[in-house]
Amino acid sequence: MPGWELFDENEKKQVSEVMETGVVTRFGFDGARKGRWKAREMERAIRERTGAAHALLAADGTAALTVTLAALGIGAGDEVITSPFTFVATFESIMAAGAIPIFAEVDETLCLSPESVREYITPRTKAVMPVHMCGAAADVDALKSVCEERGIPLVEDACQAFGATYKGRAVGTLGDAGCYSFDFNKIVTCGEGGALVTNRRDVYERADRYHDHGHDHSMSDRGAEGHDFPGYNYRVTELHAAIGLAQIAKLDRFLEIQRGNKRIFEDEFAAIDGIEPRGLPDPEGDSGTFITFFAKNEETARKVTRSLKESGAEGVFHWYDNNWHYIRNWKHFKERRFANPVSKDILDGMPDYTKREFKSDAIMSRAVSVTIKLGWSKEEAAERAKRAANAIRHAL
Ligand SMILES: Cc1ncc(COP(=O)(O)O)c(C=O)c1O
Repeated sequence: MPGWELFDENEKKQVSEVMETGVVTRFGFDGARKGRWKAREMERAIRERTGAAHALLAADGTAALTVTLAALGIGAGDEVITSPFTFVATFESIMAAGAIPIFAEVDETLCLSPESVREYITPRTKAVMPVHMCGAAADVDALKSVCEERGIPLVEDACQAFGATYKGRAVGTLGDAGCYSFDFNKIVTCGEGGALVTNRRDVYERADRYHDHGHDHSMSDRGAEGHDFPGYNYRVTELHAAIGLAQIAKLDRFLEIQRGNKRIFEDEFAAIDGIEPRGLPDPEGDSGTFITFFAKNEETARKVTRSLKESGAEGVFHWYDNNWHYIRNWKHFKERRFANPVSKDILDGMPDYTKREFKSDAIMSRAVSVTIKLGWSKEEAAERAKRAANAIRHAL
């Protein structure tokens, strides 16, 4: 990752086709667009790729998550259980829907622990939202069993894992709904973009309306459309969809390169005493965006991270110290410093996260990831993997 490393003439061609008509919006203007419907085409490509019955593009992954929760009827007073290791967008989308983010714990998969989800379920829990972090699937079967036992929807935040599979099926399609991000750092990028997928027609139809002001999309005369409920504007543009369309056509190649490069790193790292690989519930399905391992303790993880960076490795993360991806440093959120007043439901319903001790700390403090790039040749990947392995050994 990211997909823009391998931009070529195809992205330019797709964007030019939109610019030739000038219709950069996804809805309406049927005559002027001369049969060019890039958002629709990309939705079809996502359906074909993932096997989902329905796909809806959105402005970005955060928007897709927010729209999904709203389409599931989740809002004020409802609790959504999610992972403390994610991008801030996950809890932001829960709050944007008006619901209360409840953080459970991660396990060695670096995704939501099914046992810990059980501990946090209350009668107010209206969804469980695992996050397939760093390009690989969570323990979906176990999480699904918890949800099924309690009759709660499973909503997958698959924003980091487009292209990944779990037991042969695309992540995002394994629960009631799932969301992808196509932002600039993702394996398939639109610049900015996201999508939700679902096999539930009711969820798709409500999402389709909600993401476009509630318009019911019943006719091509936009101003004459009806409304069952109000919505917002979370639409994608044709320009973004055009880029994504060119990118998604290359996904198989991207996955092959990435997985191949990751294997080269795995082989080098396997020979190092003193680090353990991340526990992947389905290693075959990993999209290969990162190689992640555990050091024996927090101090060693910091030393290893420093050594890797000094050796010239790019995209090295000790997630425990990261401000974007782990709750430990989300001071703005924990101290409730919101831009504008949030609802009393959220304020009263949310635990005081400044006081909560996370068991996840013991796992996250030891986890280190190195980004796998699409642009590397096999030779470059091999050279980098050797250098990274030496840097790790040096720090142990
Ligand atoms: C786990 C996770 N969820 C949600 C998002 C939000 O996606 P976007 O940046 O497209 O809004 C991201 C983006 O990085 C993410 O990593």
